[in-house]
Amino acid sequence: MEIELIKKDFGDKLDALNELKHLDDLRIEYFGKKGILTQELKNIGTLPPEERSLRGKNLNELKNILNKTLQDKNNLILDEIMTNSIEKEKIDVTLPGRWKTIGTKHIVEQVISRIEEIFISMGFTVEEGPEIETCYYNFEALNIPDYHPARDEHDTFFFDPEHILRTQTSPVQIRTMETMKPPVRIIAPGKCYRSDDIDPSHLPMFHQIEGLYIDEGVTFADLKATLELFLTELFRKKVKLRFRPSYFPFTEPSAEVDVNCIICDGKGCRVCSNKGWLEILGCGMVDPEVYKKVGYDSEKYTGWAFGIGVERIAMQLSGIPDIRYFYENDKRFLCQY
Ligand code: DAH
Repeated sequence: MEIELIKKDFGDKLDALNELKHLDDLRIEYFGKKGILTQELKNIGTLPPEERSLRGKNLNELKNILNKTLQDKNNLILDEIMTNSIEKEKIDVTLPGRWKTIGTKHIVEQVISRIEEIFISMGFTVEEGPEIETCYYNFEALNIPDYHPARDEHDTFFFDPEHILRTQTSPVQIRTMETMKPPVRIIAPGKCYRSDDIDPSHLPMFHQIEGLYIDEGVTFADLKATLELFLTELFRKKVKLRFRPSYFPFTEPSAEVDVNCIICDGKGCRVCSNKGWLEILGCGMVDPEVYKKVGYDSEKYTGWAFGIGVERIAMQLSGIPDIRYFYENDKRFLCQY
């Protein structure tokens, strides 16, 4: 075959391919045992002697040229592969990182933790009770019998006539006294439920913290002193407290404690319903009827209890005007605390 023709064919085939494996096929097609060039070289022997030398020289030159172009193409393809992979794996170190935002502890949880800390430092322990409660623990044992009007005030969610969502954390008092002998010093934080209409200060689910202290010789003065210490510690300033005589079936005497509204400084605002005071807890001396239920000797022991609304405290601490903000799950609100 004509040298030029072989060269041209080879060149065309080489131009058409761009994969290493096809390059190898082409190499075999020309230089393999039965390759085109190999055959041509073998054929030299069949030529008349005077033509052999020139043909041999030309074929060898061709062989070198083809080999070189093959090698060049090989390098070109390798270069391309390299450039592509560099392009693909390129890392832009100037790109800003992707931020994963870390959640914060919910403000209500934060307030509970803080109140726990304060009471733990005063020697109290933290107890828990179930949210699905029986009428016995939520009412009966707390001296709120079936016919008692206080039951109506509690707007209770019922599962069945015996089981309810607890309306207060006070049943934990009973559960604790059933298993502990005095001295008892506990607080019990947790969720409570009432089918209240929703407004800036009411939700059907809210948190309370129950407190209970029972020992020999415990008086109302201890209660006042403890609450004053606790609230001063919590608000980190001397707060004004107002004890209003009140009524709870499980305490006698009973009181409701108001703090001066920190949002409006007592002038009156939406949160305190223009009263200047915010009712934050109920308290009193544990009623002897309750001791009877748990088998404590009411002649020997006296004690006090209180129940505090956590959301209200959080509102006071952080100047939050509407209780609904807590549970709308708006990150812009939650992340502030
Ligand atoms: N459980 C009462 C309520 O939900 C609050 C309360 C008042 C708790 C007086 C007490 C207490 O322990 O002594 O409204």
